[in-house]
Amino acid sequence: MNTVHTITQLRAAVARARQEGKRIGLVPTMGNLHDGHLALVQKALQSTDYVVVSIFVNPLQFGPSEDLDSYPRTLAADQSKLLDVGANLVFAPTPKEMYPDGMDGHTRISVPLVSEGLCGASRPGHFEGVATVVSKLLNMTQPDLAVFGKKDYQQLAVIRKMAQDLCMPVQIMGEAIVRDADGLALSSRNGFLTADQRQIAPRLYQVLVQIAEQIQGGRRDYPAVLDGARQHLIDAGMRPDYLELRDSVTLNPVGADSKQLIVLAAAFLGTTRLIDNLGFELN
Ligand code: PAJ
Repeated sequence: MNTVHTITQLRAAVARARQEGKRIGLVPTMGNLHDGHLALVQKALQSTDYVVVSIFVNPLQFGPSEDLDSYPRTLAADQSKLLDVGANLVFAPTPKEMYPDGMDGHTRISVPLVSEGLCGASRPGHFEGVATVVSKLLNMTQPDLAVFGKKDYQQLAVIRKMAQDLCMPVQIMGEAIVRDADGLALSSRNGFLTADQRQIAPRLYQVLVQIAEQIQGGRRDYPAVLDGARQHLIDAGMRPDYLELRDSVTLNPVGADSKQLIVLAAAFLGTTRLIDNLGFELN
């Protein structure tokens, strides 16, 4: 497994693999890899012959008061995990390599509607930063397949829409959320939690499970169900950012004929913002 830092090296390595007739997979990440990321790599390895993992903490997707500077950067540990799992190439560019002329005048990809609300409401510009960097990574690598996690469900929807609208010749695959034994979705940001907060954090998932159970059990007073759940989060010591029920196919608000639902949440625990979601079906 090689690690390269420039776009030229990335393109050369991928061109060699292509010449050997290999199908190319891409797993974009910001590093500090955990089993959730590695599950995406494994999925890509099952479906392609040469898997590129990008590691880049993308400044364009962080707001001015967000955790860009403190975001964990652990390249050596990440490389060793990727070697174990069998990835073929690590692409770890610098911000200068990705944004040689800076970010201000850089072309941006904006995906309307699906980027609005949920995380898009509390993180202005975030999905524009994500869509822009992912489109760059797709253009540099030109993979047959790119794999993303459902943990960032809205992000996955934004990327799918971008790829479809811009006729990008790539298959976008979404993979299930990997959780700790107590239900907490694995996240690089979990490392920011104190021991006490780590005890509280699984409540977020528990509340999502309770909402799904109540609705599957027949409750249709969705606002009341969500209000009750919001209060549970507050009682547990969290500050809910959003807690919303949507159609999991369209991400639109739930309509009378929606059968596949998803409840999505973001909540602060101290200064750490956790997100999670749970999809379920109505009979
Ligand atoms: P990052 O947060 O590092 O996540 C990289 C990929 O791993 C994303 O597709 C994310 O949804 C997935 N992932 C994270 N935690 C997961 C979990 N517990 N189970 C399953 N998948 C999980 O998301 C980003 O980076 C960035 O926005 C990026 C797409 C790389 C663009 O900069």
